[in-house]
Amino acid sequence: MNSRKILVTSALPYANGSIHLGHLIECIQTDIWVRFQKLIGNQCYYVCADDAHGTPIMLRAQREGITPETLIAKVHEEHRADFADFAITFDNYHTTHSPENRELASQIYLNLKEKGHIISKIIRQAYDPVQEMFLPDRFIRGNCPHCGAEDQYGDNCEVCNRTYSPTELKNPVSAVSGATPVEKESEHFFVNLQDFEPMLREWTKSEALQPEVTHKLNEWFEAGLKPWDISRDAPYFGFEIPEAPDKYFYVWLDAPIGYIASFKNLCAKQGMDFDEFWGPDSQVELYHFIGKDIMYFHTLFWPAMLTGGGFRKPTAVFVHGFLTADGHKMSKSRGTFINARTYLNHLNPEYLRYYFAAKLGSKIDDVDLNLDDFLHRVNADLVGKVVNIASRCAGFITKRFEGKLAAELHNATLYQQLIDEGNAIANAYEQRDYNRAVRDIMQLADKANQYIDEYKPWVIAKQEGQDAELQAVCSQGINLFRVLMGYLSPILPVMTQKVEEFLAAPVTWQPEPLLNHTVQPFQPLMKRVEQKQIDAMIEASTDNLAKAPPAKKAADKPKSNDPIAPTIQYDDFAKVDLRVAKIVNAEPVEGADKLLRLTLDIGEEKTRNVFAGIKDAYDPEKLIGRMTVMVANLEPRKMRFGLSEGMVLAAGPGKKDLWILSPDDGAQAGMRIK
Ligand code: MSP
Ligand code: ZN
Repeated sequence: MNSRKILVTSALPYANGSIHLGHLIECIQTDIWVRFQKLIGNQCYYVCADDAHGTPIMLRAQREGITPETLIAKVHEEHRADFADFAITFDNYHTTHSPENRELASQIYLNLKEKGHIISKIIRQAYDPVQEMFLPDRFIRGNCPHCGAEDQYGDNCEVCNRTYSPTELKNPVSAVSGATPVEKESEHFFVNLQDFEPMLREWTKSEALQPEVTHKLNEWFEAGLKPWDISRDAPYFGFEIPEAPDKYFYVWLDAPIGYIASFKNLCAKQGMDFDEFWGPDSQVELYHFIGKDIMYFHTLFWPAMLTGGGFRKPTAVFVHGFLTADGHKMSKSRGTFINARTYLNHLNPEYLRYYFAAKLGSKIDDVDLNLDDFLHRVNADLVGKVVNIASRCAGFITKRFEGKLAAELHNATLYQQLIDEGNAIANAYEQRDYNRAVRDIMQLADKANQYIDEYKPWVIAKQEGQDAELQAVCSQGINLFRVLMGYLSPILPVMTQKVEEFLAAPVTWQPEPLLNHTVQPFQPLMKRVEQKQIDAMIEASTDNLAKAPPAKKAADKPKSNDPIAPTIQYDDFAKVDLRVAKIVNAEPVEGADKLLRLTLDIGEEKTRNVFAGIKDAYDPEKLIGRMTVMVANLEPRKMRFGLSEGMVLAAGPGKKDLWILSPDDGAQAGMRIK
C-alpha cells in the first residue's frame, strides 16, 4: 500500500478561556483520526495552536492587570497540559501570536492587496468615548429593539432570538466602561469575497464536503457574498497591518493562518519541506476539523485567502455538531459546563474518549453527553466486555504456564474472522463513523466472550490432564483481545500502552498471532466508573451563585450605570442592621469557583459564617484581619455548603475590583453603621 501524506488540524481554541468538553469532542475526534492514520502506516501530521488575538483577550489582560503576552503564555501552558492529559497528541501546538504567523499574515494580505482583492471603506461604528476604543457588537448591551428585553448583546437578543445591528439597540451601554457609546467613522479594509465566487463554487463541487455543508454553502451563494471586514482600529491585540498605522488584522484573519504558521514552526524543528504541504500545487491531503459554528470562515473566507495568498486549498473541511448535555446547551448552573481539568480531577480521560467515539459519526448533528449513559456504556463495554476477555485468560497463563502462550491457535478461523472485520472498521474510521467502528468492535468482543464462555477455562483448569487445552483456550482469548485492542488503540492510547506492557509485544492493526510467546503478569487495565466520581465532577462544575435560590438574574442586579432604584422610606432603611465585622477567617469553598467562606466577628458571642462571592478579588489570606460591613439581620440562607448568616458589603464594579476596609481605619467589630 502506498503511504498517504496528510496534514490535519483542529480549530484553534481561544486563549481567553479554559478548555472544556466542547473543545475536547473536537480534538478527540481529530486525534482518533490522526492516530488511526498513523497506525495504518500513513504519514500524518496534526497541528494546532492557541488563537491568541482579539478584543476579549486584550480586555481580560487589562482586567487582570497583566500584559496580553503574559496572559496568553499562561493560558497556553494550561491548554497544553489539558490536551496532553487527554492523550491528544499534536505534532505541534503553537500560538497565533508568533513570528511565523505575523510574517505569513502580512504575506497573504499583501498578495491579496497586490492582486486588487482588498478594498477600503469608511464605516460608522459604536465607539466607547471613555475607553477610547471601538466596540465589537458583543461589548455593547442594551434593550432589544424588537421585544424590549433588557441587557441584550449588540447583535442578537437572547429573549426573542432576533438579530439586529448595534445601532438599533435602545439605551446602549458599553460593557467595557458603562459609558453610552457614540458613533464614529473609521476606515476599514475588506477582502472582496465576490472575486473568489467562481473558485469557491468549483471547490464546493469538486471536494468531499459533507452534504449538509454543501447545502449551507449554496444558501450562502444565493444570499450573495459580501466583502469581509478584516481590519480593526487600535487599541487591539493583534498584528499591525503593513503600511497602515494603527490598523490591525481582525483576529479571524490571522487565526486560520495560524494553521500554516504552526506547521511552519514544525518544519523548522523537523526539517520538512514546507512547500510540499502548502505550495499551490501541493498533493498532500489537508483536512480541517471544525465545529459547525465556524463553517463560514473555513469554507468561504479561508479558501479565498489561501488562493489569493498563493497557497493550496484544503482537501476537505470536516464539520462536527455541538456537544450538548442531557439534550440542552451545556450549562454552568446545571453543572454540565465541564472544564477539561475538572473532568480530569475526577475521571479517567479514556472513558470520555471512548464515549465520544461511541457517539460520533460523520454528520454534523449535535452529540449529547448523558452521564448515565456514559457510566453504563463505559462499564458495560470497556470493563465488562473488552478488559474482561484478558482478565479471564491472563491469570491461568501466568500461574500455570509461566506466562507462555501456546504454539498454535486453538481456533484459527475465529481469529481470522476478527482480522477480516478490520477492513470494515478501518473504513469506518476513515469516514469518521467512529460510532460504527465501535459497534463493530463490540460485536467482535461479544464473539470473543462467547468463545471463552463456551470453553470455560475456569472449568478446564480444575480438570486433570487438560493443561494443553487450558493453555490453548487462554492463548486464543489473549490473541483475540490483542486484535481488538489494535482496533481500539486510536481511541484508547493509554490503555493500549498498558496492554503492550502486559503482552510484551506491540499492539498493531490486524496483527499476526502471538505464539510461543511469554507475556508479563496481568495488571488491572481499567477501573469501573463510579457514580460518586460523576457526582463530584458535577458538583465541582456547578456555578453555585447561579444555583443558590432565590436565583437573581444577572440582569436584575444593579450596575454602576443603572439609574438609581425607586426611593424607599426611612423605615425600610432602618430595618437593615449594618455592622462592622472583622474577618477572622477566610477560606476557599471546595467546589465553588467564586465563593469564600468568611468567619466574621461582630462582637457577638458567636462568630458568623457568611459565604461571599468575592474570590476573584481577594486571596483569602489577605482578607484575614480586615474589616467589612455586613448586613447582620438578613435571614440566614441555606446554601449547599452550609448556612450563610448575613451578607458582606463591598464596593466596586465586581470581579477583581472589589474593596473592603483595611483594619487601620479605626473601625471596630460590632460598631453600628447608622
Ligand atoms: N478561535 C476560533 C477558531 C479559530 S480556527 C482558525 C474558535 N475558538 S473556540 O475556542 O470558540 O472553539 C474552538 C473549536 O471548538 C471550534 O471548532 C468550536 O466549534 C468547538 N467548540 C466549542 N464549543 C463546542 C461545543 N459545545 N461542542 C462542540 N464543539 C464546540 O472558534
Ligand atoms: Zn428581543
